[in-house]
This record gives sequence, structure tokens and C-alpha cells, in this order.
Amino acid sequence: MKNVVVAVGGSLLRPEVAERSSWLEDLAELVKEQVSFGVRFGIVVGGGSPARESIQLVESIIDDVLALDRIGISATRLNASIIKEIFQNSGINVPEKIPNDVSQAVILMERYDVVVMGGTLPGHTTDKVAIELAISTNSEKCIIATNVNKVYDEDPRKNKNAKSFDEMSIHELQEIVGPAKHAKAGASQVVDPIGVSLAVESNLTLNILDGRKMKNIKNAVQGNVFEGTIVKGD
Ligand code: UTP
Repeated sequence: MKNVVVAVGGSLLRPEVAERSSWLEDLAELVKEQVSFGVRFGIVVGGGSPARESIQLVESIIDDVLALDRIGISATRLNASIIKEIFQNSGINVPEKIPNDVSQAVILMERYDVVVMGGTLPGHTTDKVAIELAISTNSEKCIIATNVNKVYDEDPRKNKNAKSFDEMSIHELQEIVGPAKHAKAGASQVVDPIGVSLAVESNLTLNILDGRKMKNIKNAVQGNVFEGTIVKGD
């Protein structure tokens, strides 16, 4: 049995393409196939547009950062429910319950082929939850499936000369994302710096890739070459 944890960026559930639902079906197919090859999955789902829209709706009324985070967490758990239902419908052995925290997920991962969860507590994002789950289940790596093709030294939307990385160390990534500090609710970075600092402590390898292309996720799960950035733990 090999444990693989995948952080599924919320943006992947509502792609700006016509085939919105087929991405979800393809994910279920990939997970089902890999389970048959002996992989056990922890899937941690981000909030994407429901999180962004809900936080925007209330942030001019509510100042409390923790309250905004809680709204974000609800959106991640909504998205996790969507993926869980699709997996169940495909015959994947996944628990009914969306775990509330990483320790519950660890226990469930011992009994099920796949565990799907969202966020846990205010103060971080689902990247951090995924990295924590990967460390707690002795996974060899954490795959961060997002909507950018690689890690860049600067935001490529703001600077078209930004440099991309095929490979880097976890320390180099920490320098790019900055110290372990919670950004405001709903703010997006390539990987949550709080998660990166956990990965630094445990020397966890991350595979950061564009999850819109299912082939990228498949290659990373199988340990093959993929288009994206390998962030090596020491
Ligand atoms: P996400 O994990 O979706 O953050 O959580 P993100 O950086 O916007 O990720 P992408 O772009 O979808 O990949 C959305 C918000 O929910 C709150 C935070 O406010 C976060 O910004 N949240 C999420 C928490 O407070 N705790 C959690 O465990 C998860």
C-alpha cells in the first residue's frame, strides 16, 4: 500500500471550460484505477469560487478574520462533499463523513481506500491541511494540484519575465512564499506558507502542478515525470 495525498485546488471544480463535470468524472476514474494498483488516497479539497464569493459577500460587514475563515472552511467542505459523492457514485470505498480534522482523517485512511476532506480550523488553507495529512500518514509526497503550471519566483500574471522552476528545494519555496503567516481569508498564493513551513520541518517533497490536465496528476501519483515543479525535501 502506498499513501498519496492530493490537495485539489477549489478552482479545479469550476474550470472555465465547457466540460465542467467531465474533469470530476476523470478524477474519479483516475482514483479508482490507482486504488486498484494499491494506492490509498487522502484528497483535500479547496474552496474555489464558493469560498471567494461567500467571503466577498460578507467582508464589508464582518471584520473578524476568524469568521471569514469559517465561511471559507464551509465552502471547502461543500466542495469536498461534491467530490465524495462523485467517488461514492463511482463505487470508490470512501467514508460518508467528511473528517473535521487531520487526526480523524488519519484513522479513516486506515479503513478506507480514499478519504476526502476540506478545511479544518481558521488560520490556514487546505494546502496546509493536505501537507499535515501527508506527514501524518507517512506519505512519500504531497501533490498540490492547482491552476498554475509551475512555481514562479514572482507572480507571472504581474511579471511576464518571472522565472519558473522544474525543480527546487523546499527551502527555496519557503523563500518565495515567505514566512508562515496567514494571509487574509480567501487570499490565494501558489502554496500556503504555513503548509510550506510544515513541509520544511518534515522534509516532505511536494509536487506542484496544473491539475486541469488530469495526466499531470496521474504522472505525479505514479512517480513519473510530470509537467510542474518538484519541490524536494532534504
Ligand atoms: P482554500 O484552501 O481554498 O484557500 O480555503 P485558497 O488559498 O483560496 O485555495 P485555492 O485557491 O482554492 O486552491 C479558502 C479559505 O478558507 C479558509 C481560509 O480563509 C482560506 O483562504 N480556510 C480554509 C481556513 O481558515 N482553514 C482551513 O483549514 C481551510
